[in-house]
Amino acid sequence: MIVLGIETSCDETAAAICHDGKIVTGIVSSQQIHKEFGGVVPEIASREHEYLLNTIVDDAIQKSGYKLEELDGIAVTQGPGLAGTLLTGVCFAKGLAQGLSIPIIGVNHLEAHIFANFLADPNLQYPFICLLVSGGHTQLWYVYNIGKYKLLGETLDDAAGEAFDKGARILKLGYPGGPAIEKESQGGNPQAVEFPRGLLKDDSFNFSFSGLKTSLLYFMDKFTDGNSKLTVQDIAASYQAAIIDVLSLKLMRAADKYDVDTCVIAGGVAANKNLRKTIRSMIGNRKIIYPELELCTDNAAMIAYLGELKLENRVHSKIEFGIKPNLKIATF
Ligand code: KG4
Ligand code: ZN
Repeated sequence: MIVLGIETSCDETAAAICHDGKIVTGIVSSQQIHKEFGGVVPEIASREHEYLLNTIVDDAIQKSGYKLEELDGIAVTQGPGLAGTLLTGVCFAKGLAQGLSIPIIGVNHLEAHIFANFLADPNLQYPFICLLVSGGHTQLWYVYNIGKYKLLGETLDDAAGEAFDKGARILKLGYPGGPAIEKESQGGNPQAVEFPRGLLKDDSFNFSFSGLKTSLLYFMDKFTDGNSKLTVQDIAASYQAAIIDVLSLKLMRAADKYDVDTCVIAGGVAANKNLRKTIRSMIGNRKIIYPELELCTDNAAMIAYLGELKLENRVHSKIEFGIKPNLKIATF
């Protein structure tokens, strides 16, 4: 099958073509305009998508070498995400699908993040544990099979990506915070400041990052008073280490408890090289899979890939389907 994927859940306008499980082209345009506001402005993001979608989809088709008429279906992010930005993608996809008389499928963005790991390793075997860490979600999933997922735990307050973004704002490192903190941490001492590790001693697979952010805020109040030998690099590295310690330890505990051979990580925070390195050092005989950097953050390749899998199984959406800004992955 040849499937066009479209992603507009936040501030990345993206289109990709998947052919029989392989990505032929993938284009991602990250909206830079939000940097000056220190975070995504939903109204501006929607307008940017509306402005860019034609060109990006056209480019993806051109670069793939296929013709529009050769598409077998369209996959588009249905949720979760910002209502206005989701609408731009879904309306565009519906118009194109109707014009071409081909099926359309609304895809769950979070489920697609998990499935980006099949692009990293097409031989990935079920069952596996997935640590899903994005800007809005931090969850541990036991993945039995496609469509069969058990939620083991999730954050009770801020997501890990949010902790990076808020931490970067406090440290005045810019947006998005994850890459900014990762960069600043290089050369810093991760043991310089003992930041709290939320719920680490708790047996559950839940997370909490809001205390960490508050602790950084108080720490910086004292730090900016002067007379400290610490550098911002040390503080960034220590803050990053506090997030990574909890994420990797809870992932390992889940792998032990559910006795799986394979763990995967997904979502924007999975792009963090220190997180990957820490998990690799703890994983022992198990396998750890993670997508390439550009397939960790938002992209349309994962949407096209999962959409194609579903369309092949004769699952598609009715043309009147709506966006779902709070869409969740069903657990059992
Ligand atoms: O999955 P994603 O691109 O978008 C959502 O679905 O939310 O995740 C975005 C999040 C942001 O919070 C961003 O700061 C974080 O992923 N992120 C990172 C890195 N790259 C992106 N966090 C830590 N280290 C990174 N290298
Ligand atoms: Zn995402």
